[in-house]
Amino acid sequence: MSNATIIKLGGSVITDKSKPFSIRRDVLASIAADLSTYLREASGDAYIALVHGGGSFGHPLVRECLEREGVISRECFTRVAHYMTILNTEVVRTLVLGGVPAVSTPTRAVCVALKDDLADCDLGVVKELVHAGVIPVMFGDVAPVKGGGFKVISGDVLVWLLAKELRANTVIFLTDVDGIFTADPHLNLDAKLIPEVQAQELVRGLATLSTDTGGKADVTGAMKFKIEAGLRLSVKGVKALIINGLEPHNLINALQGRKVRGTVVWF
Ligand code: IPE
Repeated sequence: MSNATIIKLGGSVITDKSKPFSIRRDVLASIAADLSTYLREASGDAYIALVHGGGSFGHPLVRECLEREGVISRECFTRVAHYMTILNTEVVRTLVLGGVPAVSTPTRAVCVALKDDLADCDLGVVKELVHAGVIPVMFGDVAPVKGGGFKVISGDVLVWLLAKELRANTVIFLTDVDGIFTADPHLNLDAKLIPEVQAQELVRGLATLSTDTGGKADVTGAMKFKIEAGLRLSVKGVKALIINGLEPHNLINALQGRKVRGTVVWF
């Protein structure tokens, strides 16, 4: 399935991170419409797996647990899992109502978290679903750790594991910014968009950038993790597109190979 594409719907795209448990329904509906049009026009020759983030559902709950207990306890694991299931149900519902053959595929049912922030997943069933023309929808989640305890598995790690399993040649990260910048565009007016870059080169550069902005902003800290995770998992021969998912039709334009403002990262 070298024509498979993995798409990550960033948590900041599908939820409003400034408000707990808030879903951006208009954005989700527009993503569903793009996917449905793409699949119709590709007439059976498109293989897609979706991953979404935790946004204002996952992150605040995990932060609260860590501040209170220092770890993700069993109680915390079940609570976060419950709210992530609610978010996932809303995402899948919108996709199905929009005509997309999507199905919920809970990460915690097929993956264990590893101590180094990566994960060990059994993606055999997911591969069969994609083969059958179904779009599995996985998500950043809490999961058991091999040997005891619980941990978060980022959706970014799942993207690369799926890319390897499905031999995808393209991954698309929908984020709330236009791509990767030379500095955080929310804080620095001189920040410039990097149109195209090699992953290795980018990670070397981002080490400096993330300290420049305190390492807190999504566009640096979180971007760095996205790219680093791909390198740590030895992803090769993949084109990663980082584009703004809040901009209507960016997704379909990217899927259909039209030029979209964003960053292309080569692995
Ligand atoms: C986080 O997943 C999942 C939880 C916090 C439970 P991601 O790391 O993929 O989420 P976003 O895209 O940053 O929101």
